[in-house]
Amino acid sequence: MVCELQNITKTYTSPSGSAHLTILNEISLNLNKGESAAIVGPSGSGKTTLLHIAAGLLQPDSGTVVIDGASVSGMDDRELAVMRNRKIGVVFQHHYLLPQCTLLENVLIPTLPYQDKQDRKKLAERAISIIKRMGLSDRLDHFPPQLSGGECQRVALARALINKPSLLCADEPTGSLDKTNAMEMGELLREINKEERTALLLVTHSEALASQMDRVLELHSGTLSVKS
Ligand SMILES: Nc1ncnc2c1ncn2[C@@H]1O[C@H](COP(=O)(O)OP(=O)(O)OP(=O)(O)O)[C@@H](O)[C@H]1O
Ligand SMILES: [Mg+2]
Repeated sequence: MVCELQNITKTYTSPSGSAHLTILNEISLNLNKGESAAIVGPSGSGKTTLLHIAAGLLQPDSGTVVIDGASVSGMDDRELAVMRNRKIGVVFQHHYLLPQCTLLENVLIPTLPYQDKQDRKKLAERAISIIKRMGLSDRLDHFPPQLSGGECQRVALARALINKPSLLCADEPTGSLDKTNAMEMGELLREINKEERTALLLVTHSEALASQMDRVLELHSGTLSVKS
């Protein structure tokens, strides 16, 4: 199993401390290699919160997160950072590319901890091959401001994939794209999920994108159910 979420509960407290909002209530979810699941639900229902917990970006109040057999709750900050870097790719609604770095440099950023010369050569080759897969091989030395929104989002996907993650988490990855680019991005995500067997957990407001996933799960009032 790539991702196992068991009885995840998350409560936010208001700044004054007077109100406790239970956003996620005993949620469980498993994802196998090559599987994909969409999380849908109303705004504010906790989709991003759940995705961030699965990606190791946020700790739950209770429950367990296990990625590739290793429990996240038992990790210190350093172990967690290494695990996230190696095992988890994340794509957000905004691409968060560095404008002063070229497309190739942006894709290589998650590989910076690997200093070995041999590795770096292989990683650069892999970066070029993923960028090619994204249809951007003629733009390697371009900078993000010279690319369209859809192209930047594909670079962000390439960056998320460079370290061959077991789990790809995407939070409204097509949210800021037009219909054509959104469709293209959706297809790419699905193809990568099947080709590289990367488990895919995707939050979306788009029914069309959600329906491309193996499972569609709806988050409502703190609980997760299969959407009929
Ligand atoms: N750090 C925080 N402190 C307090 N409340 C928070 C915090 N982060 C999120 N919330 C609240 O938790 C709820 C769930 O937020 P979340 O961002 O997970 O929703 P969402 O389903 O992703 O919404 P959207 O579809 O609008 O992106 C919201 O009511 C939000 O206001
Ligand atoms: Mg959200």
